[in-house]
Amino acid sequence: MPIASFHFPKGFLWGAATAAHQVEGNNNNNQWWAWEQQEGYIVNGEKSGLACDWWGGRWKEDFDHAAQGGQNAHRLSVEWSRIQPAPDRWDEDALEHYRQMLLGLRERGMIPMVTLHHFTDPLWLDDFGGWETEAVVPLFEKFTRKVVEALKDYCSLWCTINEPNIYALSGYAAGAFPPGKKDLRLAMRVQANMARGHAAAYRAIHAIQPEARVGYALHYRPMLAARPGFPLDRLERNILFNAINMAFPTAISTGVMRTPLGKVRTPEAKGTQDYLGLNYYSVDSVTFDLRKPGELFGHRFYPQGSDLSDTGFIANMPEGMFATIKWAVNSYPGLPLIVTENGIECADDHIRPRYLAQHIHQIWRAVNFNWPVKGYFHWSLVDNFEWERGWTQRFGLWELNIRTQARRKRPSADLYAEICTENGLSSEMVQKYCPEVFEKLFPG
Ligand code: FCB
Repeated sequence: MPIASFHFPKGFLWGAATAAHQVEGNNNNNQWWAWEQQEGYIVNGEKSGLACDWWGGRWKEDFDHAAQGGQNAHRLSVEWSRIQPAPDRWDEDALEHYRQMLLGLRERGMIPMVTLHHFTDPLWLDDFGGWETEAVVPLFEKFTRKVVEALKDYCSLWCTINEPNIYALSGYAAGAFPPGKKDLRLAMRVQANMARGHAAAYRAIHAIQPEARVGYALHYRPMLAARPGFPLDRLERNILFNAINMAFPTAISTGVMRTPLGKVRTPEAKGTQDYLGLNYYSVDSVTFDLRKPGELFGHRFYPQGSDLSDTGFIANMPEGMFATIKWAVNSYPGLPLIVTENGIECADDHIRPRYLAQHIHQIWRAVNFNWPVKGYFHWSLVDNFEWERGWTQRFGLWELNIRTQARRKRPSADLYAEICTENGLSSEMVQKYCPEVFEKLFPG
């Protein structure tokens, strides 16, 4: 008998999240593929290549694993460049492929959540400036209509855009994503166009499918002033917090996007969310740093002694999950919330079990305040192509051998299966998979 367990409400969604370019393979008609072919952009010159070969049919194996592991939902994305390979051409076979995948989820008892845009753009769109101009808005709307008409029998939970803040800031301010520009003003214009695109998609989806639930996934980073007694750190923390986290949400809630460079009007975006998707990974410490003008004079880091992932990309800071949900509840009282991504890169799985248990514990705490968290999607089901970090980061519950395409289960997959099956986390599970945090979760 477990001495205690943390139960979740009936109907809670338990799943994993994936993105088309990261798992499908041979997505050679988008801007990321082109970027990977050039030297110097991806760690070790790695390429997405065959990825997890989902386009070749290996999604079946991975969906089997998810279903056998008790997952009742899955978040995936569709690839615009496959569905609309040229401005005047739709690929019905690609749509049929996605239909089969969603049917595959349904047949395995999993509810699909479909993301329409997850970082990739068709080359033809990129050629005339991608999201830099408002011309993208009707194009994204048209694409959305096509997808929703094709997939509406299998899906009613839609995520328009994944992490518009990261897409805009990484591609147009930090320059780590294509097109590698470093122009904050342009980054904010891109984000405003994404808010407009989101709004157009929101209305288009509801026009086709009135019962749909539509939102977007925000990458939310809680931040702390590194030296709380030092006013410049506190000021800097607020500047970065607002710049990174707040532009898109303010556009959606008020119709005016608040950016570090001023306000942008996006009236059509006001009120266009049925839920808020939260991608939470870690908490940043912030110091004021004169040497970083390009980053608005802020330096973000993890404090010494943090429980770090393999490459130091993520620190295990579960309280940040609670803080994230609390921020959302305070900002949008009553709005349903879904944790659309959360996970850690760890090839030998020594951190993941405790990361998973501790984060789910924090979600449980939130649920106990009756805060409307409706589901959790772990990033990710199987190791996949991690953007500019290539294959150096292993986020999967399942390990992928890129050369042979063989999958191998990590212990975390078993822990997650027990959580999903029980609809909760028990002291027995923690004792079995991550005894090192037992005292933290079940003090007594
Ligand atoms: C998020 C992305 C996702 C994945 C994880 C690790 O920012 O949405 O595609 O790369 O980070």
